[in-house]
Amino acid sequence: MLILGIESSCDETAASVVENCRKIRSSVISTQIEEHKKYGGVVPEIASRRHCENILAVVRQTLDDAQITLADLDAIAVTYAPGLIGALLVGVNFAKGLAMTSEKPLVPVHHIAGHIATNYLTYPELEPPYLCLVASGGHSHIIEVLSYTKFRVVGRTRDDAAGECFDKCARAMGFSYPGGVHIDRSAQNGDSSDFKLPHPNVAGNEFDFSFSGLKTNVINLIHNSQQKGIQLNYNNLSASIQKTIAEILTEKTVKAAESLGYRKIAVAGGVSANTGVRSTLSEACKKRGFDFYMPEKSLCGDNGAMIACQGSYNFLAGITADESLNAIATLSMEDI
Ligand code: KG4
Ligand code: ZN
Repeated sequence: MLILGIESSCDETAASVVENCRKIRSSVISTQIEEHKKYGGVVPEIASRRHCENILAVVRQTLDDAQITLADLDAIAVTYAPGLIGALLVGVNFAKGLAMTSEKPLVPVHHIAGHIATNYLTYPELEPPYLCLVASGGHSHIIEVLSYTKFRVVGRTRDDAAGECFDKCARAMGFSYPGGVHIDRSAQNGDSSDFKLPHPNVAGNEFDFSFSGLKTNVINLIHNSQQKGIQLNYNNLSASIQKTIAEILTEKTVKAAESLGYRKIAVAGGVSANTGVRSTLSEACKKRGFDFYMPEKSLCGDNGAMIACQGSYNFLAGITADESLNAIATLSMEDI
């Protein structure tokens, strides 16, 4: 079975061909980061325009690299939610047109389900059920993966996502967008015990996250020191931010696993590339005898393979769409 996956929910135009659910035949990612860097974040209008310009070449290259033609595909999968609406629309309409002209089934994929699926591409033996932490620029969720296509969200962020917190703290330190990876690098040379940063107390659902307090604390720390003409040690601050975010994510995920009885834990999303998050979560799982899964670093950020992989499972489960498929900016995983 050969599935083409198309992703355009944010600032990467990406496509991939995946064979028999788990084998990446080809994967092409055209990133717009350099362009958005100038503005300190993603400019939705620019993102949509670049997707329009790039998508045809990206899909052509993907098919060429896989050494197949459209006729060889079993289905065309596309991210339809959640994300920037204008950006999503480009992928959805392109996929609809392609599916219609090639008379192939169209398969809608939820972006977060796609991130979770990167673990199937990394671990051939992994099967649901398990618990997955998804931490990206737009989302921080603890999700029960009940089957390949059924999910239950047990925790979510009340405000900022973990990636957003990384990026905003990084911006205050003068790092370029997206800042998470710069904090990761800078933290390698830092002392994480230098700054005591707050762990949030979230009332209500004990598995929910909140990162806005940590973000505000860091930004105030930087601004106050700038006003006093004091230069903080940014390596130490980066290490302290990374340690705090990794601890918060790990604490809640492990608590949820223990309370719900899961012994298989996975992580996914852009923030799962973070060195501190990977090691803290992996250590905590090891200590408790849990099996721990994390995607290959190259699959943590947005890519087409995650959509082709999840698209394969959706297709097998009979989840297809017709030409009325629309892009949706906000959609819970439980509503798919
Ligand atoms: O999953 P993703 O590529 O896009 C969304 O779906 O949002 O995640 C992007 C986020 C950004 O906030 C970026 O700074 C963060 O992932 N990120 C990292 C690292 N690599 C990417 N955060 C911390 N450390 C990293 N190494
Ligand atoms: Zn993403």
